[in-house]
Amino acid sequence: MSADNPPEAGGPLRRVYLDHASTTPVRPEVVQAMVNFMLTDYGNPSSIHSWGRVAHEGMEQARANVARLIGSRPAEIVFTSGGTEADNLAIMGAAYAANEGCNHIITSQIEHHAVLHTCEYLEERGFRVTYLPVDSYGLVDPGDVRRAITADTALVTIMHSNNEVGTIEPIAEIAEITQEAGVPLHTDAVQSAGKVPIDVQQLGVQLLTVSGHKINGPKGSGALYVRRGTRIRPIQHGGSHERKLRAGTENVPGIVGLGVAAALAYEELPETGPRLAGLRDRLIAGLLELPFTSLNGHPARRLPHNVNVTFHDIEGESILLALDMAGIAASTGSACTSSSLSPSHVLLAMGLDHQQAQGSIRMTLGRTTVQEDIDYVLAKCGPIVERLRSMSPLAAGSLAPRRAQAPAGPPGQDRSGTGDGRRASGKEAPR
Ligand SMILES: Cc1ncc(COP(=O)(O)O)c(C=O)c1O
Repeated sequence: MSADNPPEAGGPLRRVYLDHASTTPVRPEVVQAMVNFMLTDYGNPSSIHSWGRVAHEGMEQARANVARLIGSRPAEIVFTSGGTEADNLAIMGAAYAANEGCNHIITSQIEHHAVLHTCEYLEERGFRVTYLPVDSYGLVDPGDVRRAITADTALVTIMHSNNEVGTIEPIAEIAEITQEAGVPLHTDAVQSAGKVPIDVQQLGVQLLTVSGHKINGPKGSGALYVRRGTRIRPIQHGGSHERKLRAGTENVPGIVGLGVAAALAYEELPETGPRLAGLRDRLIAGLLELPFTSLNGHPARRLPHNVNVTFHDIEGESILLALDMAGIAASTGSACTSSSLSPSHVLLAMGLDHQQAQGSIRMTLGRTTVQEDIDYVLAKCGPIVERLRSMSPLAAGSLAPRRAQAPAGPPGQDRSGTGDGRRASGKEAPR
């Protein structure tokens, strides 16, 4: 991050990218490896000549690197075009491979749209989907999973951590329940991989999703972990690539890039996690000093790079624009909904009202984030929030006492949702 921009009123303008949950810069080591597999080692990995063999070896090295990042065997990694495709393959693949009559899926109300919309697609094709509620921190109750499982449950899919509020879900506890019931468990670990240690053996999941561009790898790369013996069907058809689970000539440069990114993320994880958590805590503490500001997500069971706060009585969009003018990139939620004005389905499921949800912003840190960036953001945020609040019709005469710090009460209380395992909004698509 450089401070080489011309000074403006209020100090020199810095450029601070705090939207790493949307995407990350590709590392030079990754680019270099990819370029090599485009310009020199460009063979088709299915070919038997030496060009093909070199490409195949590059791909297998990448498979080993991704496997190491999540504690699996290399042969259990299926390369995909990203997190979305891996989620689709996991959910549809497991649903269609289930026994005759097993047409029930369990998920949560706060999943990424790659999961929610896939579940809705299956609902339109005769599957029954239970959307579990979460508590005020965004935590799924494993007891709810236990109660929702029936004899016809084909799959449970609960994310490892939430992309908007950073809450880390109790996946190992949920896995104990699904294992007892003999139901496969998928987890979307797109935001967790490379940020917190992931070990598929300890987690006990059958299927796990990762995405390249969230770990300083290329966009359009990802992988699905498929535990040996898991029943799954391909969702696209063609050649017998990827153990017949994902037809199509492999995106070798993308896969190699993902592999290098995974190797670096794994090696640096012991240093990255604590460093990011320290910066995150400094940012949260500074933001919570601002009046009428509260933290969203769990204060402790939280991704080390995620900050999500509500500035009460201000529109999140206005804050984003003002931050952007100050050289700071943040977001109002997931990248997919940031251009839409509908409030976040995640925050609504956690019990925030529409106005609070719309006054929320997410700042996500990355490997290039330094302390000076955090100090700069804190210095800019105070005046921006004060100015916007003074202009806000929402704030006029309404700054009555309200929740001004992190939500109180232990996880498990203040449950939102319908409580019957269904989304509060019925058939309407959650965002
Ligand atoms: C939790 C989660 N799942 C899935 C995805 C989709 O991944 P991709 O962009 O690689 O398709 C994202 C991307 O934001 C995400 O945050």
